[in-house]
Amino acid sequence: MEVFRTVTEMRAYGAAQRAAGKKVALVPTMGCLHEGHLSLMKAAKQECDTVIASVFVNPVQFGPNEDYEAYPRQEEKDREALERAGVDAMFCPTPADMYPSGYGTYVQVESEITKKLCGAKRPGHFRGVATVVTKLMNITGATHAFFGQKDAQQVVVIRRFVEDLNLPVTIHMVPIVREETGLARSSRNTYLSREEKASALILSQSLAKAEAAFQQGERNAAVLKQLVTTSLRQEPLARIDYVELYTFPALQDIETIQEESVLLAIAVYIGNTRLIDNCILGGR
Ligand code: PAJ
Repeated sequence: MEVFRTVTEMRAYGAAQRAAGKKVALVPTMGCLHEGHLSLMKAAKQECDTVIASVFVNPVQFGPNEDYEAYPRQEEKDREALERAGVDAMFCPTPADMYPSGYGTYVQVESEITKKLCGAKRPGHFRGVATVVTKLMNITGATHAFFGQKDAQQVVVIRRFVEDLNLPVTIHMVPIVREETGLARSSRNTYLSREEKASALILSQSLAKAEAAFQQGERNAAVLKQLVTTSLRQEPLARIDYVELYTFPALQDIETIQEESVLLAIAVYIGNTRLIDNCILGGR
């Protein structure tokens, strides 16, 4: 596996792959890789000839009181995991190379989709994500890019600017990978104490209750949200940030679910750690 640390080297490699007629996949990550990330690598390998994984903790998508400094970094382990996964190239640039002094351009999706869920709770977050993903697409020359349903709103936002800015990249969404307990895999799970990790099961358990109710015919959005809220409130260490249900992928309000797919999305603090999870219901 090739490892590139500068934009210049990465750009040259990507250009050569494209010139050779390869389908080039980009899998952006912030590292501390787990099975969720590796499922993206696998999907990318199946679809494309060349897989480029980026590992970059992107400063511009973190708010001032968020965990940029504390975010787990383990580049050597990540390199080994990517090598084992059969990834062709790893890109780990420095913040100074991505955002040199004088840097002044940001990609801001203005539509309603960034004003709800994590967009409402983390001001500036999606501006940072859209900016870095645009840069990574431009640097690598990727023809395809892979993202997880774990961050479903992120996928919606990325599809929006890719279409709006006419970027020649096909976006793929890969299902959520969970631990055997049901806990969605996340780099932030490393923050959890053993007790908190047990409490964190309440996220997937609460979503499962709503999924079961939906299977049994419940179509009222307020009822489904209430079911999740009530269930989350039973866990003393959990503090709800949001419980929302929107159409998917448009992210519009809905009262009664009919034929459409809907996204039931939650953000919950377990102690000081903010976790997100979701499920997509219906529309199949
Ligand atoms: P990060 O949180 O490292 O996630 C990288 C990719 O892995 C994202 O597309 C995310 O949705 C996916 N992922 C994380 N956990 C997953 C799981 N349990 N199952 C399936 N996929 C999972 O998301 C980011 O980084 C950043 O915002 C980034 C896109 C890299 C831009 O900086």
